[in-house]
Amino acid sequence: MTFRHRHLLGIEPLHPEEITTVLDLAEKYVELNRQPKKRSKVLQGLTQINMFFEASTRTQASFELAGKRLGADVMNMAMQASSIKKGETLIDTALTLNAMHPDLLVVRHPNSGAVNLLAEKVNAAVLNAGDGRHEHPTQALLDALTIRREKGRLHRLTIAICGDIAHSRVARSNLILLGKMENRVRLVGPPTLMPPRIGEFGVEVFDDMREGLEGADVVMMLRLQKERMDGGFIPSEREYYHRWGLDVEKLSYAKDDAIVMHPGPMNRGVEIDGTIADDINRSVIQEQVEMGVAVRMAAMDLLARNLPEAVQNEGVLV
Ligand code: NCD
Repeated sequence: MTFRHRHLLGIEPLHPEEITTVLDLAEKYVELNRQPKKRSKVLQGLTQINMFFEASTRTQASFELAGKRLGADVMNMAMQASSIKKGETLIDTALTLNAMHPDLLVVRHPNSGAVNLLAEKVNAAVLNAGDGRHEHPTQALLDALTIRREKGRLHRLTIAICGDIAHSRVARSNLILLGKMENRVRLVGPPTLMPPRIGEFGVEVFDDMREGLEGADVVMMLRLQKERMDGGFIPSEREYYHRWGLDVEKLSYAKDDAIVMHPGPMNRGVEIDGTIADDINRSVIQEQVEMGVAVRMAAMDLLARNLPEAVQNEGVLV
């Protein structure tokens, strides 16, 4: 197994073989998670702290469950109520927590780069659970695992990532990962929601859904990240749905066996028609959530193996 990192801050630094290592190990955890008894001792004795400076439902629950299933002591910091509100800086909070000797720190932060900065100041292995519009590596890995299981491979697929690309760390991590694995990535959405210099990523860009979805194996829909918009990026939600919302007619341009993905939270009737989201023949949205727990278990397991030897010598890792 090759995975030589101290932290998981993004997809950018990962080699294709390391991505495969995470996914292969995650497959084992998918099996474990389907057993009635789901407990493993891989992280026994280790402390995991979840610091979410931004709202989260599935990512936080998924990391918490992942840590507990691996036997770690898991603590969720209520960051809304923390000393940050009293003016403490991110780094001071991190140093305070560091003094409590956590082994794994899971961090979500609204500012791009904040998680990388924090990783430089602490001894724990840091996992980025989403920083601004930068990266969300475990989301891209769980999406990759879902695609690999559904399509039987993770290369030479045509994948359309649709919607608010400019504000999306999910899109960014996904396009990096899917590019590394040699897929054809298309970005589809209004030009106002495309990041500048997107051509440099080696992707095709479309503003027409039908053209962008033509022959696609995977259709990945994204939420309009209104909390990151500081102006009028779209005419109206109705108009947006009309032109870029995924409905049966637009989906008919993709391959007959194309799968539909969404990282959640979903805005039905804005970027996706509710009936498609619920169609178990097309939508793999629930499977993405299931894969999320397994991928996070795999990522934490691998990072724990790379913790400084002092921890490993205690013999807690199996
Ligand atoms: C995404 C996020 O927070 O980046 N959600 C998630 O982690 N499942 C996408 C979003 O908020 O739209």
